[in-house]
Amino acid sequence: EKGGYNHFMLKEIHEQAKSIRECMRGRVYPEQGKIALGGIASFDGLLKNAERIVIVACGTSWHAGLIGEYLIEKYARIPVEVEYASEFRYRDPVIRSNDLVIAISQSGETADTLSAIDLAKKMGAVVLGICNVVGSSVSRATDGGIYTHVGPEVGVASTKAFSGQVTVLTMLALYLAQLKETLSKEERSNCIHSLWKLPEFVEEALKCEDQVQRIAYGMLRSRNCIYLGRGCAFPVALEGALKLKEISYIHAEGYPAAEMKHGPIALIDEEMTVIFIATNHSYHEKIINNIQEVRARKGKVIAIVSNAGGEVAALSDEVVQIPHSDEFLLPILAAIPLQLLAYHVALIRGCNVDQPRNLAKSVTVE
Ligand code: F6R
Repeated sequence: EKGGYNHFMLKEIHEQAKSIRECMRGRVYPEQGKIALGGIASFDGLLKNAERIVIVACGTSWHAGLIGEYLIEKYARIPVEVEYASEFRYRDPVIRSNDLVIAISQSGETADTLSAIDLAKKMGAVVLGICNVVGSSVSRATDGGIYTHVGPEVGVASTKAFSGQVTVLTMLALYLAQLKETLSKEERSNCIHSLWKLPEFVEEALKCEDQVQRIAYGMLRSRNCIYLGRGCAFPVALEGALKLKEISYIHAEGYPAAEMKHGPIALIDEEMTVIFIATNHSYHEKIINNIQEVRARKGKVIAIVSNAGGEVAALSDEVVQIPHSDEFLLPILAAIPLQLLAYHVALIRGCNVDQPRNLAKSVTVE
């Protein structure tokens, strides 16, 4: 059932090209330059006029939501707020009549997310779901939604569900842009063509595994790691740090790279490993400056790059190359080496990769 892999997590990481293809099936039409999302089509009026989108989720699904915020604001120009479901449900949140609430949950059984949905519904909001498990509590509690359709995820650490959620959010951002005409036909069609090629890029990115495995040996005795990224790579840094801490038990934090100077830089010394998402996209020069700041304090630098021969490579102790792509595909591609890194570090440290201590696959308690 693990398909020849030693762990479900590794199998699920390697399934991502296929699972993303499944997720896009019947929804992405590159020839027509169109996105079709049947599960939410009856809400087109609301989607077109939404004044704000509030996304509620927990853990990895919350990280996917943060990427959704970048994409929806960029392409559809609708303001988005992303909230931990557990905070949303216990506050007295403001929900107005033209607000749309989206709940993201792989399992569809997370107690905090379900309570957030109930609260939003009581306040009169339409709530849509992004869910993996068909017929789950979240899918039943929401007014409509988009399944990720990535197949069952067994490993406790979420991997293919995350890339499926981000794929759905990318399709949603482009769908909203299509409804609202916030992108020109040509821009939209270019994005949809690139999105359609994402599984090929994912296959390519997975080839970094040997390199990542070698780097993992060097992290055997690490006690602390910081993950840094800017823009839509910032939530990927959060996700990379969560993966490492939950399965390898190494303390790890993600930050927006520019926040380092506001505190975390005090932690940098020769014992600290800093993992940069440093692909050739926006803010590349700024990231190079951040790498120099870490080096000057003797921190060990591992960089995820899309250009192995560039300046970042010259400044880093280790580089992992992923394929160069449009920036909006970067979150999924950059997450792959970070998933593999967490897996291999945990394996080398003798941890139970598929069932880390203290964790359950779905968190049905508050
Ligand atoms: C991390 C992880 C958790 C879940 C979180 C929400 O790898 O799996 O952080 O993402 O418990 O779960 P769902 O998405 O099922 O609501």
